Amino acid sequence: MKVLSVASECAPLVKTGGLADVVGALPGALAPEGVEMRVLLPGYPQVLNAIARDGIALEEWNLFGGHANLIAATAAGIELLVVEAPHLYDRAGNIYLGPDGQDWPDNPERFAGLCWMAARIAAEGVNGWVPDVIHCHDWQAGLVPEYLRASGGRRRPGTVLTVHNMAFHGLAPYARLGSLRLDPERFTPEGFEFYGQISALKAGLVGVDRLSTVSPTYATELMRPEFGMGLDGVMRARRSELCGILNGIDEEVWNPATDPAITPYTETGGKEANRAALRQEFGLPEARGPLCVVVSRLTEQKGLDLLIEALPALLERGGQLAVLGSGEGWMEQAFRDAARGGQVGVRIGYDEALSHRMMAGGDAILVPSRFEPCGLTQLYGLRYGTIPVVALTGGLADTVINASPAALAAGVATGLQFHPVTADALRGAIVQLCDLYADRDIWTRMQANAMAQPVGWNRSAKAYARLYRDVAPLNEA
Ligand code: ADP
Ligand code: GLC
Repeated sequence: MKVLSVASECAPLVKTGGLADVVGALPGALAPEGVEMRVLLPGYPQVLNAIARDGIALEEWNLFGGHANLIAATAAGIELLVVEAPHLYDRAGNIYLGPDGQDWPDNPERFAGLCWMAARIAAEGVNGWVPDVIHCHDWQAGLVPEYLRASGGRRRPGTVLTVHNMAFHGLAPYARLGSLRLDPERFTPEGFEFYGQISALKAGLVGVDRLSTVSPTYATELMRPEFGMGLDGVMRARRSELCGILNGIDEEVWNPATDPAITPYTETGGKEANRAALRQEFGLPEARGPLCVVVSRLTEQKGLDLLIEALPALLERGGQLAVLGSGEGWMEQAFRDAARGGQVGVRIGYDEALSHRMMAGGDAILVPSRFEPCGLTQLYGLRYGTIPVVALTGGLADTVINASPAALAAGVATGLQFHPVTADALRGAIVQLCDLYADRDIWTRMQANAMAQPVGWNRSAKAYARLYRDVAPLNEA
């Protein structure tokens, strides 16, 4: 089974969030299932640098206003097809944003270029390699079915779109229809029209054979107006072709027993040294309460404004907070202000190694998201015995066993969940966290449960392989 995965990010080459981790993990996770996956990526500078030595230029096309090469290469063990198109991708800084912090004005064309190339690969193959399935990720790959339709290739591959985040639609004004090489006849409510604009995400949602998202709970939430971001009707209409497949994490990279970034430890002990080191790194004194950590984008989605409100409840009980993240300026400033009291430490920025030290040194990880398609940091927390305190939503609802009286009595709890997603409910969870932390027996049990919970790709890889098998034969005839 040959699968072309189409995405705008792929770890470790280029990453702004969990999408990259998942796209980078799928090829390795699916290989044992007999899936031969190649990842089609834009040729950003960091990607071209990573493949500089072994790339083979295959073909040249005119792609949305300039020349493009398709380069086949392997990097970090991943088989890549890279679209080298300097006019679209040769830009410094964030892959989506210009120096003014706004989306690049030609983002619709930049990612249309990626989709158009995917359709060409489906129609013509690459050195004899022809995908059976195209797996599209998020709006950046949403136009693939439109270009497949237009290209009329020998044989249409099966198509899957995974929604990692419904908040980003990839909108473009109607006037760009021509520059995006789209069929005006498809600019309808049944097609890719969305309130008078072109929506790349909607093109994908209505056009692919099957839809998936990254947790079963988010799959059901997406059919409701509160979470559907205006596309819940589309999701309801495609209910029978939609499924939720949980993200996994790389259990080798995230393994407290072997992690080179930390002092290795297991469920039988050794976390204390990491906690002491983390306190020192953040300039925090010894304390009687739990050391809580946050590793996150600082945006509305992540609900960290609620944490700023609820923070006194933690500090009053002798708890502490260490934050690593970047995002909205006012939120960065609010955490910096909170740090003045001496019990909160803050690092604004992106630091992979520090994120490992935080998982190892923290007692609890806080994830109060307003919505969370899956979330990865609570999974790292589980693996590192760092108790997740999470909002009851999306993948956070599917991956944590709440310390309810029943779960505690049965000895199966792995974390805490709160609902509704308000500062008050978060405050309640923080108070409960401090109480549980003070009870060494219960706490140790929860840590051991958390560390034993499977968080790898095993089950989900099988689910994706099934999905590919379901769509591929449709087109064999
Ligand atoms: P999202 O993709 O919505 O940001 P996820 O939880 O799925 O949320 O994935 C976020 C990923 O980015 C995780 O791998 C997390 O560790 C990482 N991350 C987020 N912020 C930082 C940061 N400031 N430094 C290092 N890693 C970060
Ligand atoms: C998105 C979501 C996050 C998910 C990630 C990977 O960025 O916000 O919840 O874990 O994609 O699927």
